[in-house]
Amino acid sequence: MSENITVYSTVDEFNVELAKIIVNQIIRKPESVIGLSTGRTTGEIHRIVGTMYLQQRFDVSEVTIFGLDEVVNVPREYHGSCYSMLKTEVVDTLGIKEENFLMLPTNSDDYTRDCENFRKEIERRGGIDVMMLGLGENDHLGFNQPGTPFGSVAHISYMSEKLEARIRKETATPDNIKFGGVTLGIKDIMHASRIVLMADGKNKAEAVRKMLRGPVTEDVPASVLQLHPNCEFVFDKEAASLL
Ligand code: GLP
Repeated sequence: MSENITVYSTVDEFNVELAKIIVNQIIRKPESVIGLSTGRTTGEIHRIVGTMYLQQRFDVSEVTIFGLDEVVNVPREYHGSCYSMLKTEVVDTLGIKEENFLMLPTNSDDYTRDCENFRKEIERRGGIDVMMLGLGENDHLGFNQPGTPFGSVAHISYMSEKLEARIRKETATPDNIKFGGVTLGIKDIMHASRIVLMADGKNKAEAVRKMLRGPVTEDVPASVLQLHPNCEFVFDKEAASLL
């Protein structure tokens, strides 16, 4: 299968072109179901979507925005939760109705039930039109860490030590409180009609190389995207430097 790869020479172009993908999707199909990822890669992209909305005022009354994953054992309003990030970066600016903003829970007495309900709600709305995916430095997708079965559906998982340490430091959270992550599974992601994988920066170059130039293996979760029939890979030149 030939890959659909676009490489931008600057991060500014990368951000703007990715924001346009989201805006175009909403304009072409106002009732779209759009999955977003959080993190360093996507914050600015989301803010640009907000700016474009304030300039063009396209119809967002029917669109569904959902988060790919969520941090658990933090309050939902904590500034590092995916809920808070998406809300402040884009959902509030667009004025997305609360019932059209779907997130996995940060706390639950039954994650299995909540994960199942989350999947069902996405299906009820017609399935994922476009899944905007970030890439972990260890090739994770959402919180699907290396070794996660390709057949996995939404589930509770763990976060890498590096990410956990970062969140712990930012929140001054004591060591006895264990963070984790809850995420759509690989199978759920692969069900999306269209996927856009985004990576920028030198720190992602090796992950990008393994994702596209290595074998398709559960040890490299993002390598599964080689098999998706409608996946676009969008990089800045540093992330693409080892291809
Ligand atoms: C995080 C999140 C993902 C995100 C990825 C990349 O752990 N769970 O949703 O896409 O890792 O994050 P960043 O863009 O900050 O490198």
